[in-house]
Amino acid sequence: MMKIPYAKVLIGDNERKYINEVLDSGWLTTAVKTLEFEQKFAQYIGAKYACAVNSCTAALHLAVDALGIGQGDKVFIPSMTFTSTAEVIRYVGADPVFLDTEYGTNLITSEILEDAIKKNPDVRFLIIVHFGGQSVNLTEIIEICNKNNIKIIEDAAHAFPTKHKNKFIGQFGLITCFSFYANKTITTGEGGMLVTDDEEVYKRAKVMRLHGINRDIWDRFTSDKPSWEYDVIDAGFKYNLPDLAAAIGLGQLERAEEFRTERQKVAEFYYKSLSDIDCIDLPITHVPFEDHSWHLFPIVLNGKAPINRNKFIQLLSERGIGTSVHYKPLHQMTYYKRKYNLTPDQFPNAEKTWLGTVSLPIYPFMKLEELEYISETIHELLN
Ligand SMILES: Cc1ncc(COP(=O)(O)O)c(C=O)c1O
Repeated sequence: MMKIPYAKVLIGDNERKYINEVLDSGWLTTAVKTLEFEQKFAQYIGAKYACAVNSCTAALHLAVDALGIGQGDKVFIPSMTFTSTAEVIRYVGADPVFLDTEYGTNLITSEILEDAIKKNPDVRFLIIVHFGGQSVNLTEIIEICNKNNIKIIEDAAHAFPTKHKNKFIGQFGLITCFSFYANKTITTGEGGMLVTDDEEVYKRAKVMRLHGINRDIWDRFTSDKPSWEYDVIDAGFKYNLPDLAAAIGLGQLERAEEFRTERQKVAEFYYKSLSDIDCIDLPITHVPFEDHSWHLFPIVLNGKAPINRNKFIQLLSERGIGTSVHYKPLHQMTYYKRKYNLTPDQFPNAEKTWLGTVSLPIYPFMKLEELEYISETIHELLN
């Protein structure tokens, strides 16, 4: 029987080389490699500033902090996301306002947002999720938010390298947050990046990522001021990315487009080979395939399926095929459900998706025989 994992990390020679450089340098914490990773990442995206942190959750928290979001504030977010998008709002005592998403893309659309603004005119912030690696229609969403005095943070945990109208995500909004968690499109094991063109946001994020200290460790030991001297200007966090992780990130960044193209080939195979199965809804793609990072390939077993989603996952697993679920939406999670009195009928599309959704294996350099085995197995289980 073939064994096909849900996700697979690809580490090349350069990641090893850069790690060795870090080990030989003696600077294992945040120093020159992290600085280089930040500069190269910002350059890749076409943004002014990048601030490396130890997770996307940390980047989102720093973003919420930099915008001054706090108690009494409300933030629109999709229910169909990972808990990080919501928890950072709670960290600062603000409240999420959960939105339904479009069926097939799991994205917030202009219609959904405009309707939500009518019902909640007091909401001043929005966290967008570029679900699965496909961008929301940023042109429209930004226009609506500008008109309604709403500030945007982009949760781009899935969206590197992703484009909207030929420009990378990270060039559009005020703050964009990326993830380099182990199963993401590029990885540092654990890690994240906050990207912005706003100097004030960048400065605040840099200070808050390291205890609110106004000089980072590298600065302290390399500048001409006495090394012991620093000030604490706020109660910050311990969110810095170590050089060892940045070394992996530098190697991965060099291959980002190669990885993306490889993932696209997998998606193209699935679209072609699964389109004849009536009881599967394939993900809807509104953008050119080249603009999609293809982090996920989530299918939905619709009402015509002979078995339910959990049984399908179990049978695939018994046949050696790993899968995942994105997501059990937040309105189904005990904490958010109870705190905000959320019910499934408020989220018809997320609910319909969640009941049947399964994310299929997708990673660079999947072999044709692996893909064929997955397709044959799915046909056998569902036809
Ligand atoms: C949509 C979304 N946002 C945020 C995160 C958090 O990323 P990290 O694990 O880097 O904190 C994830 C992680 O999977 C995610 O899927």
